Amino acid sequence: MKQIAVVGVGYVGLVTAACFADLGNKVIALDIDEGRIARLKRGEMPIYEPGLEELVRRNVHAGRLAFTTSYREALDGTEFAFIAVGTPEGVDGEADLRYVEAAAKTIAETMREPLIVINKSTVPVGTGDWVSNIIRQHQREEVPFSVVSCPEFLREGSAISDFMNPHRVVLGSTDKDAAEKVAQLHLPLRAPIIVTDLRTAEMIKYASNAFLATKISFINEIANICEALGANVEEVAVGMGYDPRIGPLFLKAGLGYGGSCFPKDVKALAHMAKEKGRHPQLLHAVMEINADRRKMVVERVTELLGGSLEGKTIGMLGLAFKPNTDDMRESPAIDIAAGLQEGGATVRAYDPIAMENARAIMPGVNMCSDPYALATDSDALIIVTDWNEFKQLDLERIRGLMREPVVFDGRNIYDPAVMCRLGFRYRSIGRDDTCDCDQPAEEEA
Ligand code: UGA
Repeated sequence: MKQIAVVGVGYVGLVTAACFADLGNKVIALDIDEGRIARLKRGEMPIYEPGLEELVRRNVHAGRLAFTTSYREALDGTEFAFIAVGTPEGVDGEADLRYVEAAAKTIAETMREPLIVINKSTVPVGTGDWVSNIIRQHQREEVPFSVVSCPEFLREGSAISDFMNPHRVVLGSTDKDAAEKVAQLHLPLRAPIIVTDLRTAEMIKYASNAFLATKISFINEIANICEALGANVEEVAVGMGYDPRIGPLFLKAGLGYGGSCFPKDVKALAHMAKEKGRHPQLLHAVMEINADRRKMVVERVTELLGGSLEGKTIGMLGLAFKPNTDDMRESPAIDIAAGLQEGGATVRAYDPIAMENARAIMPGVNMCSDPYALATDSDALIIVTDWNEFKQLDLERIRGLMREPVVFDGRNIYDPAVMCRLGFRYRSIGRDDTCDCDQPAEEEA
């Protein structure tokens, strides 16, 4: 059993702490936010993540996981300190490292025994060296330490399973001994362990996220072309995905990527490149295509409603940037709602769990109690998030409640033929949605 400190109990920190505890280690998780630590001590989770509450409860109960606001308590007797604090986006798209800096300084001032400091937060290439300097400068007495980069590859909504079943563990360090010790912590996960230097490990994280974002923008571009040429993007993705050089994942066309990672990381990578005089053309195209997805929804819905949104009521089904999370950060829903409102529409929304978070950042959007209340007297519905519960709606009932039977399906969760049969004016992404009923329905409208 090893003793581990985790600094920062946000998304990554809390999952890392709970999972390492579950692997049999003694973990002390620290945050400077007293309210958050007090709530965690009462068993209240600061974020929604399937399975996390139970995992935390079980490990606290077993005495393997504890929470504190005291660096002294967290670091005493500890060989490993993970830094998992937030790295929000700065004004120019660069990562804002103020929390990493504060954590490194306080670790330096507090540590009394040799320590391996492990960067889990996504940080610009070169941050590991910078953290080393900060610790060196702020130590009260000289105590040996080493900095290792260990980027996280956790997806919100499946973070625990991603932690416990990683495709790889990346460790960056020039200190072989430290890398070996951190590798030992990960051995129970039985994943390939790749050891590189610090900067390369930091780059692997950015390159991975940028590549996945590129796949998404690529398939969205193909979706646009499919629409123009009468092909079906869903089937194109399946047909491409069987080629192992391409792979089937992250080829789901839709409203583009959101969340706390891809938008920020692609921008930060482009910023790092630009600062060094490089011109990251591909990354710029990826971001541009992604931004256009949100404008496209507003244009398509306007078209479906006869050219104007003035006086129309539009319901958004889903607000979170993806299902199984209440995270609203960079969600397409935010820009889409703003675009609809700008066009003169009244916007309402329903999401199974993200409405509370959404309220604060989406002024003027009326939250509804369920999908049927949302549909009542709406002129159009937009599927923004592909929650499973939306796939099983009573669409006939929805159709009957709406003022106009217009559905724009931004996630392709419905079958165009079924929607046509039910009498909807239905459009989706990268598919030919025309149906025999289209003509009369449009004449009626
Ligand atoms: C992402 C990565 O998948 C993780 O590996 C990484 O560790 C994490 O960022 C991070 O850097 O912390 P996450 O942001 O939770 O995880 O979400 P994803 O499941 O990757 O989805 C990101 C966005 O892409 C969502 O808006 C999703 O709707 C969209 N997406 C995903 C598509 O539009 N199409 C796809 O085929 C896949």
